[in-house]
Amino acid sequence: MKLFLDTANVEHVKMIAEWGVLDGVTTNPSLVAKEGKDFKKTILEMCKYVPCVSAQVTATDFAGMKKQGEQYASWHKNVYVKVPMTTEGLKALSYFRSKKIRTNTTLIFSASQALLAAKAGANIISPFIGRLDDVSEDGMGLIAEIMEIWMQNGFDCEVLVASTRHPRHIVDAAKLGAHICTMPFDVFSKLPNHPLTDSGIKKFQEDWEKVSKK
Ligand code: G3P
Repeated sequence: MKLFLDTANVEHVKMIAEWGVLDGVTTNPSLVAKEGKDFKKTILEMCKYVPCVSAQVTATDFAGMKKQGEQYASWHKNVYVKVPMTTEGLKALSYFRSKKIRTNTTLIFSASQALLAAKAGANIISPFIGRLDDVSEDGMGLIAEIMEIWMQNGFDCEVLVASTRHPRHIVDAAKLGAHICTMPFDVFSKLPNHPLTDSGIKKFQEDWEKVSKK
């Protein structure tokens, strides 16, 4: 499973990329607004570190999505145009596929939406599991359902688990065979940690110091 960072913070991308485990970045208008930096510059900086950076269109009609998406795709070969799951978005996905512009479909909350986005030609679909859990639905259950559909149909489209909130989400997504999981910096930062690793290192160092003093 590929691991992506859900952020518009270039420093965070650089930091995790140095671990050698980062496969991509997802951004959205809220994350870009939070950082308050120039959008194009941010996307181009991120493209230096990873081969897949999602840049989301803000237009809601096909013509607007087409214009913005073509512009984003011209910035760098690593850009994936992120398109919302609407009927206008479906038209845009189909158009971008015909132009070999790669896409990620965002705001997927049901299996039928996932199915349509894949059929329209999305390269990636992004079901939001945390936001489903927030309204008492079963986010990971949706991933299980989508993966079952993918097994039966063999779509040329990767399932990206988005809106993750804790490390268990990442492990469960991997067990279900999801292709990609994106997560905020604080969740990514928790993945390498275990208290027994910390206490184990401390004990090894203490024991080694005792021997080296003899
Ligand atoms: O990239 C979009 C997605 O991951 C949003 O997450 O935490 O705002 O539901 P969240």
